Amino acid sequence: MSEYIKKPFKKENGIFSFTITDLETKKVTEFYKVTPFPNYKDDDNKQTILEKGNRNILAQKFKNFIGYKKKVLEVGCGTGQLSIYFSLGTNNKIVGLDPTIESLKLAKNFAIKNEINNIELVNADIFDDVLIEDYFDFVWCNGVLHHTKNPYKAFEILSKSLKNNGYILIGLYNKIGRLRTIFRKYLSKLFGVKFLEIFDPTLKNLKISNEERKSWIKDQYFHPIESLHTLDEVLRWFDKNDIKYINSIPSCDFEISQNYDNLFEENPRGSFYSRLINQIFMIFNRLGSDGGLFIVIGKKNIKNTSK
Ligand SMILES: C[S@@+](CC[C@H](N)C(=O)[O-])C[C@H]1O[C@@H](n2cnc3c(N)ncnc32)[C@H](O)[C@@H]1O
Repeated sequence: MSEYIKKPFKKENGIFSFTITDLETKKVTEFYKVTPFPNYKDDDNKQTILEKGNRNILAQKFKNFIGYKKKVLEVGCGTGQLSIYFSLGTNNKIVGLDPTIESLKLAKNFAIKNEINNIELVNADIFDDVLIEDYFDFVWCNGVLHHTKNPYKAFEILSKSLKNNGYILIGLYNKIGRLRTIFRKYLSKLFGVKFLEIFDPTLKNLKISNEERKSWIKDQYFHPIESLHTLDEVLRWFDKNDIKYINSIPSCDFEISQNYDNLFEENPRGSFYSRLINQIFMIFNRLGSDGGLFIVIGKKNIKNTSK
């Protein structure tokens, strides 16, 4: 029995499990099976995960904003570091969903070893739509939808499981902001992976193990499924699914200084031109050098509940 899963499942090794049948999703799970992402260091423990999470300003602000006694879903949790970070020191209930069982097993082992009891894992494909509607207070889905066969459909499905007034955060590769990475990707085909070690600014500064490094390079440069998106596109997704735009990185409007302190306060959507220019700026700032991921935060806002 599970109060938030609506379809029959098996429970294997403590993980709620569904059979992955979709061929595109299988391609992705085959990819992550070999190099689970983001993976753990041998000596990772609660403290190191907490420290790493606190250094990630977006995750840290999100965790603070969640507060206590909330239900949080991480879609595409991979090896679950972030889900574990969100669970640590709180009485929130965290659910991590991912189709790659090898990644979830690493998450489960870590949770067992470190006696973390407020996290549950679901081995499923978003497109199998296994979660009930109107259940979670927060949904976090960062770096996932652009690796699926139909990012909009996936968004539609996962936003249904969000409660009214709940918050959703999605992170996607930007069509303009990722240009530098795409350029490096083509050059690495000519000059080999060594080229990336020299010319990828993020990679040069990453202080991670060799295993994590391998996963990171494969994920950024050799992924079998990858699509690119824009702020305007996500605003349309929000509008179609009763999600009110709250904030984004980069912001939609010119006036907004990027201040992480008011991340969850409602901000103007700007104009087509302000959004375009802010996305062009990504090419030249840290967002672009980090792979061109942009973040959009929304709040479910069903005006007519009889609908
Ligand atoms: C780049 S990793 C991101 C992992 C994690 N969100 C993070 O930021 O570290 C992408 C994740 O999306 C998951 N994923 C890909 N297709 C999916 C699908 N159809 N349903 C659910 N998760 C999916 C993969 O298994 C993988 O763990």
